Order: sequence, then structure tokens, then C-alpha cells
Amino acid sequence: MGEGTIQDPSYVRDAFARIADRYVTTNHVLSLGTDILWRRRVARIVRRWKPERVLDVATGTGDLALEIQDACPDAEVTGSDFCAEMLAHAGRRGLGRTLVADALDLPFDDASFDVVTVAFGLRNMADYRAALGEMRRVLRSGGHLLVLDFSLPTGPLRGPYRWYLHRVLPKLAGWLTREKDAYEYLGGSIEEFPMGEGMKELLREVGDVDPVALPLTFGVASIYTGTVA
Ligand SMILES: C[S@@+](CC[C@H](N)C(=O)[O-])C[C@H]1O[C@@H](n2cnc3c(N)ncnc32)[C@H](O)[C@@H]1O
Repeated sequence: MGEGTIQDPSYVRDAFARIADRYVTTNHVLSLGTDILWRRRVARIVRRWKPERVLDVATGTGDLALEIQDACPDAEVTGSDFCAEMLAHAGRRGLGRTLVADALDLPFDDASFDVVTVAFGLRNMADYRAALGEMRRVLRSGGHLLVLDFSLPTGPLRGPYRWYLHRVLPKLAGWLTREKDAYEYLGGSIEEFPMGEGMKELLREVGDVDPVALPLTFGVASIYTGTVA
């Protein structure tokens, strides 16, 4: 990992601090609103688990945590993130519990949550395995871990999608956010990020989870779930 890469923690924190005010709108424009549907899908899955305590790690502006809060009104939903500027939006948008915290060193006791989620956050972390291990640590036995992140389509769309990802998206996002840098590494980070079987293997390695992968929108994103034994 070189200095300035997307997984360098201070680079990541500063990049999100700079785009925090434009993050929600940019996402919706660039994905044509699909990101909303993906998070709603996650919230429906979480609701089926009937959790009492949910932690959304790397919650950012709270998009997923707010969907879960709506879908599970009886649950206590906490959103944590190491970027205070992003988290401030989550609080203002109505997320009840927010906490500035590094996902690699969560300030929670072992087994303190029924569900832990992370959406579009793990990919930006310095050590995927350590981060998943930390999420696993704070889950109770029988609890559920859920990862939502970008992946690459496996069929004929893979080529055109990669062209969009590397050639079009950085320019479009740079124009919208005036922070081209923050998006230049996005394509590379998606290419490097474990997907499908790779992510399932990683989840198995963090221990006692039985992973399931659910590709979304031709495989442009995927949901991975694992239930702790
Ligand atoms: C792309 S945003 C995703 C935000 C939100 N989960 C969503 O679905 O829109 C990634 C977030 O991950 C956070 N993040 C990255 N690495 C982190 C870490 N090690 N600890 C806590 N937050 C982290 C960033 O600050 C940023 O808010």
C-alpha cells in the first residue's frame, strides 16, 4: 500500500471529509438512484433477522443506517465512522446514535450486536481481514455480518462496465464534486477488492461464519452475509 492510495487511512479520511457535503447527491446521480435500491434491499434483509442492536460500520452520511432504522423501528441502530465530517451528516439526517470510531479498533465489547453491516466502506480500509475480524468480534453468537460493496459483472457487461469505471466515472465524479482525486482510485479499488468466492473465503477466514453472496444489478454490486455459529 503506497502513500496516498485509497486504503491509506489519513488519505481516506481527508478525501471523505472534503466530499462530505456532496456525497449523498453525487452517489445518487452517478448510480442513477440504484444505490438507494441496494441499501433498501439490505434493510429488508436486516429486518428479517429481527435485530435489537445493529451497528453500521463506516456509516458515512448514514444512508444505510437510516434505511435500517426505518425498516427496524424497534432496533437500536448505531452508525460509526472515522470521518467526523461524514458522520455529522448522519446525525443531522436523523440517525439516533453516531460515534467517531475506526473500524479496525471498534470501541465496543465482544458480542454486543445482533447485526453488523458495512456498505461501500470495507473496500477503503487498510486491512480487510482485520476489519472483518473486528466486526465479527462485536457480533454475538447467532448474529449476522453483512457487507454491501461494488463488484464486477461476470458476463458480457464486464468489458463495457470496466470502461465506464476507469474512463467515464472519474471525469463525471470529478466534475460533480470538484474532487477528481477522491474518485480516481475508485476503479482500482474495485478491481482489487475480493468479490464472489474471494469474499466468501475471506468471511470464512474470519471465523465461524457461513457466507452467502447475492449479486445485484448484473453484478455491479454484491451483498455478502454470514451468520456467526
Ligand atoms: C464510500 S463511504 C460509504 C458510506 C456509507 N456506508 C454509504 O453506504 O454510503 C465510505 C466511508 O467509510 C469510512 N471509512 C473508511 N475507512 C474507515 C475506517 N477504517 N474506520 C471507519 N470508517 C472508515 C469513510 O470515512 C467513509 O465515510
